[in-house]
Amino acid sequence: MQQVKAVIARAKGEPVEIVTINVPDPGPGEAVVKVASCGVCHTDLHYREGGINDDFPFLLGHEASGVVEAVGPEVSGLVPGDFVVLNWRAVCGECRACRRGEAQYCFNTHNAKQKMTLADGEGAGTELSPALGIGAFAEKTLVAAGQCTKVDPQARPAAVGLLGCGVMAGIGAAINTGAVTRGRSVAVLGCGGVGVAAIAGSALAGASPIIAVDIDAKKLETARRMGATHVVDSSVVDPVVEIKRICAQTYEGADGADVVIDAVGRPETWKQAFYARDLAGTVVLVGVPTPDMKVPEIPLIDVFGRGGSLKSSWYGDCLPSRDFPMLVDLYRQGRLDLDAFVSEEIGLGEVEAAFERMHHGDVLRSVVVL
Ligand SMILES: NC(=O)c1ccc[n+]([C@@H]2O[C@H](COP(=O)([O-])OP(=O)(O)OC[C@H]3O[C@@H](n4cnc5c(N)ncnc54)[C@H](O)[C@@H]3O)[C@@H](O)[C@H]2O)c1
Ligand SMILES: [Zn+2]
Ligand SMILES: [Zn+2]
Repeated sequence: MQQVKAVIARAKGEPVEIVTINVPDPGPGEAVVKVASCGVCHTDLHYREGGINDDFPFLLGHEASGVVEAVGPEVSGLVPGDFVVLNWRAVCGECRACRRGEAQYCFNTHNAKQKMTLADGEGAGTELSPALGIGAFAEKTLVAAGQCTKVDPQARPAAVGLLGCGVMAGIGAAINTGAVTRGRSVAVLGCGGVGVAAIAGSALAGASPIIAVDIDAKKLETARRMGATHVVDSSVVDPVVEIKRICAQTYEGADGADVVIDAVGRPETWKQAFYARDLAGTVVLVGVPTPDMKVPEIPLIDVFGRGGSLKSSWYGDCLPSRDFPMLVDLYRQGRLDLDAFVSEEIGLGEVEAAFERMHHGDVLRSVVVL
């Protein structure tokens, strides 16, 4: 066991704190990783606000890169010194999804079995719930070995660590879930880290037009830099009308976008996505709703009559072992600008301030660098 500094959310809505935690030595199938970088994702804020569940205290942070420090028994293909991006869907290889060759839908993903704890007095200490089974706003963290995906060690940690969550979720929502490709039109609602990644992924896939929608004009500027061909400020105009108008300029007769990605995750944005989609198009929900939200009221005949598909995207339906090295390679070739997602590098003590900046729309990603 060793003790390290880490950022926790002790209670609903309370500011985060830096504390000392206990990190057990890795047991069977586990690894301890010395964290190099960890991005501040909106999902960390959801945890802090009690929007995910009530298993406080949470050890926050889950968008990370690092170097493997130690591995436990029964670990193969991973050794101390490996540079890795952490993933939050370590697949089991045995469930129905895995057995039928669709490991991206694994029904039984796993995390480390042992618990990290608060170094709060005598005995074992209070058990921590690591965000998405990772907990990487910490000098070191304990994960399942399958959560470590080896990537090119030459790559900049703060940039490639973002593949661990938001950037992969966004790119995957477009390319994997939405099957975006050349000849397809795309609209993305919400241009935070996830939405802008969906825009970058759509650009990589050759889609056109790529329409960015947000209620914050600053976010739209970033979206344009990252590949959006059109931007729509939905605090000013109706995004459904605008998306239909823009798509019809490119494709005669188009009545919306082929793929509409909701990277906000609210009933009102999902409804906009539903109606901004052309016939037989695809809606992708990648933003995470809170438990109190309901599917908006839509006539069932509209669901039937418009055809197509309404999909959710867990983690961009990625396979970390396939997608992380591929995207790091595109980054190293200069074809995917992961650096552009890093708005600022910060210390462990600045996570609360980073939440504030995220809330005000001042950053795409603040990244803790250790
Ligand atoms: N599905 C997954 O696997 C996955 C992974 C990571 C994050 N997420 C989720 O994706 C969502 C976005 O995360 P993020 O880190 O990009 O957050 P963010 O806070 O950086 O970005 C959210 C963006 O949505 C915009 N927005 C808010 N309300 C809007 C509205 N009504 N219409 C249009 N735009 C609006 C904001 O201005 C902001 O630019 C969150 O819900 C997060 O939890 C999902
Ligand atoms: Zn499985
Ligand atoms: Zn995340």
